[in-house]
Amino acid sequence: MSQYLRNTWYVAALSPDVGRSLTPIKLLGEAIVLYRTEDGRPAALEDACPHRKLPLSMGRLKGDAVECGYHGLTFDCSGRCIDAATQARIPPFAKVRSYPACDRYGLLWIWMGDPARADEKAIIEIENHDNPAWNITQGDSMLIECNYLWMVDNLLDPSHVAWVHRSSFAGAGTDNTPMQITADEHGVINSRWLLDQPPPPFYAPLVKFHGNADRLQHYEVRYPALAVNMGIYTPAGKGGPDMVEDADTYRMISYHFLTPIDDDNTQYYWLQHRNTDPHDEALTRKVAAGAKAAFEEDRAILRAVHLGMKNKTTPTTGLLLDAAASHFRKGLAERIAQEQAADAQA
Ligand code: FES
Ligand SMILES: [Fe+2]
Repeated sequence: MSQYLRNTWYVAALSPDVGRSLTPIKLLGEAIVLYRTEDGRPAALEDACPHRKLPLSMGRLKGDAVECGYHGLTFDCSGRCIDAATQARIPPFAKVRSYPACDRYGLLWIWMGDPARADEKAIIEIENHDNPAWNITQGDSMLIECNYLWMVDNLLDPSHVAWVHRSSFAGAGTDNTPMQITADEHGVINSRWLLDQPPPPFYAPLVKFHGNADRLQHYEVRYPALAVNMGIYTPAGKGGPDMVEDADTYRMISYHFLTPIDDDNTQYYWLQHRNTDPHDEALTRKVAAGAKAAFEEDRAILRAVHLGMKNKTTPTTGLLLDAAASHFRKGLAERIAQEQAADAQA
């Protein structure tokens, strides 16, 4: 059974990285070529000519169509063959798969399932994206050489910051404060309040009040591979489950988009959002660089975990902290099985 959910939007690229040239990518093990039409709309086609399977990305753009670089079969952005230069008749069954695609939040999204079910309204709503009081740190991307489910585990695991992010997100209580798991039809949330502690190094320059803080770590992953990671800081005594938001409440929300390239590689995209200093560009650059450095720390761990688990020769041990990830994996496996059963019946 494939481990991918298909009837969903994945991030295929940062929008500015795709223009009027043929850009090959791989997603869910499939080779895809991205480009933009003359009026700027994104197009996504199977990256394999149906004649000899040469990647179409080795050909060239002709208007809104793609011409194969071997013998010139030409496909429009719906994947239909519209020209066969070497013969009078266009082969009647020559076509390539086309994928619905759109731009949102500076990201280029692709729908990998049944095109008839692609609905742009299903893309996550990023609250406050256009709120001028909030800063948006534009997205960035990196390759992580691991299965995307190891990243899901990581993004449902607030405790790892105590060891992996010692100089940024770690702080007193991150190693051993109990967590609370909640789940609904969208995914799983693992969260906890850490009360009356100094803000950790990454957040200290961002939080506006002095003294100790109550800190929420909210780690959420939505099916199949989109994480919402929120940090809330309030002056000590004002936080906790009954927090009342006021002018001192600092919020940082990171959105993480995990795009499976194949079973061993994931393209990681993210953007960040905070409710302070919307126009402080120096601070924004610092936050962006700090986050990227932390994600590099995750990357080193995750690629080694992927290899370790793939090549293991001795038994593994479960920990209580795995509960949220286990819950998520079970929910995702059920959804994938349902999707595949429905496809088999269609
Ligand atoms: S391989 Fe594309 S036309 Fe021959
Ligand atoms: Fe991390």
